[in-house]
Amino acid sequence: MSKSYNIAVLPGDGTGPEVVIEGKKVLKTAADKFGFKLNFEEFDFGGDRYLRTGEVLPDSASEEMKKFDSIFLGAIGHPDVKPGILEKGILLRLRFELDQYINLRPVKLYPGVPTPLKDKGPEHIDYVVVRENTGGLYTGIGGFTMKGTPDEVAVQSMVYNRKQVERCLRYAFEYTRKRNKNNKLALCGKTNVLTYTYDLWERAFHEIGQKDYSEIKREYYHVDATCMWMVKNPEWFDVIVTGNMFGDIITDLGAITQGGMGIAAGGNINPEGVSMFEPIGGSAPKYTGKNVINPLASIACGAMMLDHLGEEEAALKIEEAIMDVTANKLKDMGAGRMGYSTTEVGDLVAERI
Ligand code: IPM
Ligand code: MN
Repeated sequence: MSKSYNIAVLPGDGTGPEVVIEGKKVLKTAADKFGFKLNFEEFDFGGDRYLRTGEVLPDSASEEMKKFDSIFLGAIGHPDVKPGILEKGILLRLRFELDQYINLRPVKLYPGVPTPLKDKGPEHIDYVVVRENTGGLYTGIGGFTMKGTPDEVAVQSMVYNRKQVERCLRYAFEYTRKRNKNNKLALCGKTNVLTYTYDLWERAFHEIGQKDYSEIKREYYHVDATCMWMVKNPEWFDVIVTGNMFGDIITDLGAITQGGMGIAAGGNINPEGVSMFEPIGGSAPKYTGKNVINPLASIACGAMMLDHLGEEEAALKIEEAIMDVTANKLKDMGAGRMGYSTTEVGDLVAERI
């Protein structure tokens, strides 16, 4: 009997649903070709549902999601909803409640894709950021006193415990080993200022590395320097591991070097549980319904999801098809500038599979 996977689909807001349709189209084609089954079930979590019902996310959502093999998400973010509500109430809540403690974000320049980095090509831009995804500044620990007065104080703490740091580092070491490219793992921190949090990260990094991953070369960069080298010498990087906030920031920089939000994919991973795959870009509401947005990020998310589910061959095939399309078809990666519609880009990739 052929394998079958149950996928929860969260198309979300804005252009999310449009790119998800193309992602699913390519996933279905790959499933047929490689002989496995994907059963999709849609959920309407997002801004429209919130405006209609007043509920951001049903309390049962996480438990419901745990029944699936994986989650395929479009985008969250609605122009009529105050920033923060949906992001915190849906995206971050799912990441936390499903304990998706890794955010895996490959920075890979596909052939034919323009990069703003001068004299750099696909041979220079091919590394992966492992972002810790449930701790640090995102835990929401903090508060105000004397709010609204001139003496107001606001605190938001960067919180990490050893276990959290250790499980993220171990994932990064394992990932570097499995990737087997340059066998080099860089820790991105700020040990010169954040002398507690990143001291913990740095000590754990070297202890674990020395003990269990001695063949992996260890490097350390401050976050500001990381940004500089990501622009000047991206070819130095193989895998970068970092905390939640720094990971958020450097992956937007990484995304723009690989051609922008139309192409950058990521996975919120719980190695022992249910993972959720989502494009790094947002819901781009002004392009909604115009059929001009680039679906390659969603399609690449599909490839990451299949790889995670163990369908490595199918994942590789999708990636090859994407590269063939970027190298030979698309003029540009931006919305409305590709030379093809959203639907056509999905078709082009699917045809090649
Ligand atoms: C991301 C986003 C989110 C984050 C926001 C929308 C909460 O920027 O996935 O990178 O900060 O993690
Ligand atoms: Mn971000």
